[in-house]
This record gives sequence, C-alpha cells and structure tokens, in this order.
Amino acid sequence: MKKIHIYLFGLGNVGSTLIKQILESERFFKTSHGIELKIVGLANSRKVLTTIDGVTSNWEQQFAQQAVTREPNAFYDFASIYNEVRIAVDATASKELSQFYPELVEHGFHVVTANKIANTLSQDFYDDLRDLLREKELCFEYETNVGAGLPIVDTICNLHESGEQIFAVNGVFSGSLGYIFNRFSQEDVSFSTVVIDALKNGYTEPDPREDLSGNDVARKLLVLAREAGLKLEFTDITIENLVIPELQTASLNQFLERIQLLDEPLQKRKSQLQQDEVLRHLGQLDTLNKKLTVSLQVVKKDSPAGQLQGSDGFFEIYSESYASHPLVIKGAGAGREVTARGLLSDIIKIARTVPVMVLR
Ligand SMILES: NC(=O)c1ccc[n+]([C@@H]2O[C@H](COP(=O)([O-])OP(=O)(O)OC[C@H]3O[C@@H](n4cnc5c(N)ncnc54)[C@H](OP(=O)(O)O)[C@@H]3O)[C@@H](O)[C@H]2O)c1
Repeated sequence: MKKIHIYLFGLGNVGSTLIKQILESERFFKTSHGIELKIVGLANSRKVLTTIDGVTSNWEQQFAQQAVTREPNAFYDFASIYNEVRIAVDATASKELSQFYPELVEHGFHVVTANKIANTLSQDFYDDLRDLLREKELCFEYETNVGAGLPIVDTICNLHESGEQIFAVNGVFSGSLGYIFNRFSQEDVSFSTVVIDALKNGYTEPDPREDLSGNDVARKLLVLAREAGLKLEFTDITIENLVIPELQTASLNQFLERIQLLDEPLQKRKSQLQQDEVLRHLGQLDTLNKKLTVSLQVVKKDSPAGQLQGSDGFFEIYSESYASHPLVIKGAGAGREVTARGLLSDIIKIARTVPVMVLR
C-alpha cells in the first residue's frame, strides 16, 4: 500500500470539501489504486494542526480544540519525523503562501494547488520553481487553476508537448463571471444582487473584486499562455476592470457595503443590448501575436458563448489540428465540489506516479 501524507492549507469552501471527498473515497483509493491517503496536516491563516492518525469526519471540532498558533516550521518538523510521500495542497488565495512553494519543495513536498498566484508571479519565479522541481524530482499539479475541474491545463500542456502549435484560446474563463453575466443578462435583477448571490454560493473569489477587476481571468490566461510555451508577464495583459476606481482600493467590507455603486454603469450597458444579444465576460489568448485580452463583450444569444447557462466555463482551442473546428471544452467552471474533485484528481495523479516509499 502506498502511503501518502496530505498537508492542507486552506479550510474554506474548497479545502473543507476536499477533506470530505478524501474521507468519503478512502476505501475506494485503497482497493482500486493501492493508495492510502491520510490528511495529517491542516492549516488556515492563523492555526495549524498535525496528527499522525489523520483527520476524521469531526475534523472541525478537532481543529478548533487542538490546532496551535502557526509556527513557520510546524509542517516541516512533523514531516521530517515520518518518511512518507508528502503532498502540500494549497486551497487558499494567498500570495504569501505561493511564495513559499520553493521552500515546500526544498523540504520534499510535492505541491497541488487551486491557487493561481504562484503560476502568475514573475516569469523568473515560474522558471526557477520548475528548475527546482526537476532537480528534486517532485511534482507540481494545478489543473484547477483554470476552469475549476475542467481539463484545460492538461489539454493545452499535452498539445504543446506533442509539438502542436496552439494559435488561440478564447472563451468564458470564469465560472463566477459566467454565472454573474448569465443571470444579469437574463433576469430583471440588479448587478450587485447577482454578485452577492455568487459570493454566497462560493462561486466568486473570497474578494469578488478579484473576479470583477478581470485579474482572475487574466491570471488564467497567463497560466495557459505559459503552458503553451509563451514567456510573458502579468503586466503584458490588457484587462478591462469592471470595478469603478473609488471601490478599487477600499477594504473588502467597505466594498461590500457600497457595491450598489456598480449597478448604474452595468445597467447602462445592459440597456444598450439588442433583443438577440447578451453580455459575456471573455478571455482571449492570441499566441501568434502574444496578445492576452480580458473584456466584457456583447455576443449573440445563439452563439456558443451566448448559449451558456449557470456557471459554465467555455473554452475554444484553435491549433494546427483544430484550425477550423476548434477543440471545445465546456462545463461547470466554478464551485467547491468540482474544484475539490479537481484537486483530488491531481493528488491521485501524483500518488500513482511516485514510487512506493514504504511496503507493508
Ligand atoms: N470556489 C471555487 O469555485 C474555486 C474554483 C477554482 C479555484 N478556486 C481557488 O481555490 C482557492 C480557495 O478558494 P475558496 O473559495 O475555498 O476560498 P475561502 O473559502 O475564502 O477559503 C480560503 C482559506 O484559505 C485560508 N488561508 C488564507 N491565507 C492562508 C495562509 N497564508 N495559510 C493557510 N491558510 C490560509 C483561509 O483561512 P482563514 O479563514 O484563517 O482566513 C481559508 O481557510 C482560491 O485560490 C480560489 O481561486 C476556487
């Protein structure tokens, strides 16, 4: 039996759902793959818990009672005692934690992440992290960085690595903004009401401005652009920001209190639509011209993007083999369940490839 120790950072929407999914599928992983997954470390921004027995379904109570104030080395010290395969899972949106990935790798951790930030820091950081992973023979998986549980990153990576030239990737990159603009275009409802609903349902980033500013989609475009072999920086992306200037630097609480200020400009754009048109938030990656664009656009209701429902993500990939008929990937593009399942799939991918450390 391969023993895998999971150290989970982030116990919010995605992290808590991941714990539930791992515990529910424990027996399946053992019998089908010969893999024992044990969550031996939990951390939020303030506290940390380590347990060699692995957490159980009452982990919240256990965390509340036994977690201690975070020490920088808590996980490293614990992991060094037990010589098992260790996977750090990042289910936060923390920039600070992303900057610690090289240190995690130095301490022998494979890394699985839903957090896009590490892949969208400078190109130097990106390249250095990959060099280090190669040197340490450790894995880094991040399928959920784009399209939540949809297989976009792998698809682009596989096409690129097989020598296929990718020309463009267009689509609705954000399930959250997909949900927001599908509802806003169809229903007689204010923009701010839809954004608050999306936040409550766990569709948006913890701070919805990360979505509305276009930064979240821009990060996804950059992840794919780099996957397709381009060397680019975040500042190379042209981004339309839907947050009015006076709310851009407010605290999260102040922003949520005054979110109705966004209603008027968005209502104006909606009122200019023709009967057969809807608003869609689109990402466009033009690899030939190295051009990345994030913007709110008017599309025909009967176009592929115009027909999307709910929080569906939608990606059209144009490449040498898919020049006139794009490869299309479509489906739930946000949500805690699909994102946690995507993380779990990345964990299993690593668990299946690493050699057996301990035979029992
Ligand atoms: N929700 C989705 O549909 C979805 C889809 C695709 C990708 N994602 C990605 O998944 C990640 C998590 O999203 P979420 O919706 O689960 O967020 P969330 O509910 O706000 O949870 C965030 C968690 O991260 C913890 N945290 C923050 N900084 C930390 C740090 N430095 N060290 C350890 N823990 C830290 C927070 O702890 P405190 O409570 O102590 O602050 C909280 O437990 C994000 O990167 C997001 O982009 C989410």
